[in-house]
Amino acid sequence: MSLKPLSITDNSQTEEDKKLQERVKASGAIPEHIAIIMDGNGRWAQKKGNIRLFGHKAGVESVRDITESCAQLGVGYLTLYAFSTENWSRPSSEINGLMKLLVQTLRNEAERLNRNDIKLVTIGQTNRLPGKCQEQLQEVIDLTKDNQRMQLCLALSYSGRWDIKEAVKSIAREVQNGNIQPDEIDDERISSFLSTARIPDPDLIIRTSGEYRISNFLLWQLAYSELYITETYWPDFRRDELYQAIFSFQKRDRRYGKVKNGYNKSLSTSVINQITS
Ligand code: FPP
Repeated sequence: MSLKPLSITDNSQTEEDKKLQERVKASGAIPEHIAIIMDGNGRWAQKKGNIRLFGHKAGVESVRDITESCAQLGVGYLTLYAFSTENWSRPSSEINGLMKLLVQTLRNEAERLNRNDIKLVTIGQTNRLPGKCQEQLQEVIDLTKDNQRMQLCLALSYSGRWDIKEAVKSIAREVQNGNIQPDEIDDERISSFLSTARIPDPDLIIRTSGEYRISNFLLWQLAYSELYITETYWPDFRRDELYQAIFSFQKRDRRYGKVKNGYNKSLSTSVINQITS
């Protein structure tokens, strides 16, 4: 199976798309960090009478389009849930096919990612991946390590519970060694022990294929993320719908558990007593 090279900044971007991106940028803040649960590859393929691997192959085209458009829009961090801890339970033929796709895509894209100033990083138990995958990943990570335009983070053999479990173990060791007092364990400290330590929490989480669940993704990090769930299967999720997701994000009122600006008048004790009596 061979793949077309992934072009991150594509000179063939249409005038219409450039205008659309200007509209997206003008209509509000661009999320600094977008994280995506890419779902529905298998169903997409099966609906077309094909085996599931065709869906994953087609999904690479969406990875290409979304990576390219995020970089063009000025998104700082894009995290893609490419392989979960639970995905190891799939048939070995599907796992092997996915790993082959990953190696091919990385091999084809390394130079372009680098030329376009995109830094590749990973989160997850990448030491569980086949040797070839690990080597190819390391090659692209090394090549792109100084790039600044956007950080593309692949979550591979990743789960949110694994991430939290590892952080808890490391913090426990620090406490045991007397380097941290238990009272010093706060949100920032915990975040700093997660695999995403140098990545801001996601502003926007997108999930494709109409499933309303988080599937063990960034469990700690998504505490205040905005969710965008679409019925579209991942291989059909392209930049036009990314723009819809960002428009939707721009309309959200992110209050982080506080009250809306302008509603911060303090109530007198007598008013509170009247209401609660
Ligand atoms: C979920 O669809 C998707 C995956 C488990 C893998 C995602 C992988 C790719 C898009 C290709 C390779 C990725 C990179 C970064 C090069 P599913 O199989 O769970 O679909 P279903 O819910 O319809 O069964």
